[in-house]
Amino acid sequence: MNPYYPHLFEPITIRNITFRNRIFSTPNCCFGENSGNVAFFENKSKGGAAVVTLSESAVSPKYDVQDPGFGMSLARRGDSNKARLGDITLAIKAFGAVPSIELNHHGMYARPDKNGGINPIGPVGFIRERDGVEVLPMDEAMIEETIEDYAVSAAFAKRCGFDMVMVHLGHGWLPAQFLSPRTNTRTDRWGGSLENRARFSVEICKRIKERCGDNFIIEARISGDEFTENGMHVKDACEFAEIIQDYVDIINVSCGIHDDRSTVGQMFPMSGFVEAGCHVEMAAEIKRHVHIPVSLISGINTPELAEKILAEGKVDIIGMGRALICDPEFPNKARHGHPEDIVHCMRCNYCIADLAFDPLPWGQNKQFGCAANPKIARDLMIARMAEPKASRNVVVVGGGPAGLNAAITAAQRGHKVTLLEKSDALGGNLKIMECEPKKHDMVLYRDYLVRQLEKNGVEVRLNTPATKELIQSMKADAVICAVGSNIMIPPVKGIDRDKVLTFMDAFYRPDTLGKDVIIVGGGIVACEAALCLADHDPERKIHLIEMRNVLCDPNYVHHYNTMIPVLDKHPQIDYRVSTRCIAATDTSVTVVKDGVEETLNTESVVFATGLTPNKKLVEELRDSALDFYPVGDCVEATRIKDATRTGYFAAMNIL
Ligand SMILES: Cc1cc2nc3c(=O)[nH]c(=O)nc-3n(C[C@H](O)[C@H](O)[C@H](O)COP(=O)(O)O)c2cc1C
Repeated sequence: MNPYYPHLFEPITIRNITFRNRIFSTPNCCFGENSGNVAFFENKSKGGAAVVTLSESAVSPKYDVQDPGFGMSLARRGDSNKARLGDITLAIKAFGAVPSIELNHHGMYARPDKNGGINPIGPVGFIRERDGVEVLPMDEAMIEETIEDYAVSAAFAKRCGFDMVMVHLGHGWLPAQFLSPRTNTRTDRWGGSLENRARFSVEICKRIKERCGDNFIIEARISGDEFTENGMHVKDACEFAEIIQDYVDIINVSCGIHDDRSTVGQMFPMSGFVEAGCHVEMAAEIKRHVHIPVSLISGINTPELAEKILAEGKVDIIGMGRALICDPEFPNKARHGHPEDIVHCMRCNYCIADLAFDPLPWGQNKQFGCAANPKIARDLMIARMAEPKASRNVVVVGGGPAGLNAAITAAQRGHKVTLLEKSDALGGNLKIMECEPKKHDMVLYRDYLVRQLEKNGVEVRLNTPATKELIQSMKADAVICAVGSNIMIPPVKGIDRDKVLTFMDAFYRPDTLGKDVIIVGGGIVACEAALCLADHDPERKIHLIEMRNVLCDPNYVHHYNTMIPVLDKHPQIDYRVSTRCIAATDTSVTVVKDGVEETLNTESVVFATGLTPNKKLVEELRDSALDFYPVGDCVEATRIKDATRTGYFAAMNIL
């Protein structure tokens, strides 16, 4: 029995496989599939997960050949795909995990442009509103062909070395389109009652077992709640689980549907909106209805939470997605009693958001990665990097996420590292999250970084502003300059730039603001500041003024789609877009929309108009050592992800 997390590391036997623990790595499309990076899967196995699941793989060679790069299409059953998949299963098995692959069909969402012009199919026919494409209703022959596609794909997966499959019956894909009354209005044996709507899923799983044998494990991924109007809710999911349990071996409870974007903050439980563990009761309810093991996803990012869920008997298995992108070594670190070394997943969703970053098609954006783990999916590049020739004297200036990552990495590579921080605490802009309980995960990430500084012997000097003279006196071989950004205040008539309130005041000193607040700006930070102010005082009204024609940032689809419905419904918050602020005082803002000027009176005016790199300090410090690396916000004020990445790679460059 594991002395630290006995339930999490208790093996479980299903059919003839004994899984080494209860951590099953859920599918994460593109990370490994897109880059051809076997190491993505291999590292999860090496890191100790019991199962490593490859992502949504298309099963239909006719109606749904997927985007290249999205998943490992099982619809292409030729030798080269077999070799590629075989390589991956071998790598997973080499380190003790069981390889699994997710079978999927987009059904009515399939794209003819990716599919030789063939129309998509679904339970019913209709013209798709978003692009005018005709979805064909599936007749008996098409249904039979598709069920067979699943079985043939599963058999192909088995030949490639997979010991199990995850059949995707949720998230609004084809089987879920049959299941949900929202999309299935058929009146034949495939529609109507839940039993009829479940028939398609049942027949798929039955056929896979017939083709692959009883011992070939099927994990059924379902949406425990679709969180959408006329959709499947927990009660229906329980009934469905009762039906499907006789044809599968594990039920994995996820939720939401891709077609209703407001549900993605639940599907990928996002910090700021839902708690880690938010779906535990939903999964527990489903477990009460079945006799087979149940797993769940729920933003689980600490071994303590995973252990508690299992110890309370809520479910049998923990599905982990983002936490294992953030740190594939999570299971091993927990098993050996070192939870403090686990890189804490912030549940920020940049991993998934960047997959969809415009203007590139889904999955083609190779910039994807993790805000806290700069190494993920960059294994080949890192393997090419040289080892240091000697231990260098490295000075890191700035204790935000870029500086902290740089200092830790440099120290781990054997350098002597001193970190200079001008304030009295480490964390940079992460410190702000201490004021926002919903963003507690960011604070835990900061705490992880600070612990690692200590563990790796970095000398930290707080309250120490860096000057060229100071660094030269330290005889640094290399300087990593992570001096961050300054708050940007636009040149608006009337404001006293030295006294103006900013989003920092909204987070740090909300009680100094009035009951009526105007926030100038409508980006992600402005929206979060509005929510923070609303939470702080339920009687406060907040008005956001944004000059672009949208709030938040539509490029980050997950943030945008989660944030906008919350703001739209929020009784305390309203907003105007395409509205420019041209003048402001402490208690008023003059705006222009469509050429019409208006002055709005309020109690407090807050500017949340962005950050600007601290380039002046970079230039002052530039000649302080022969090797000088500016990183993070002082180069470009963007996201934690870029800070982490640039800090890490600068340290890797010191040889
Ligand atoms: C980058 C990324 C890609 C994903 N790709 C898939 C996928 O292909 N199929 C799927 O069913 N779920 C996919 N998911 C969802 C995860 O499997 C998981 O359900 C989700 O991240 C919630 O679990 P977590 O809270 O442990 O992260 C993806 C998630 C992420 C973050």
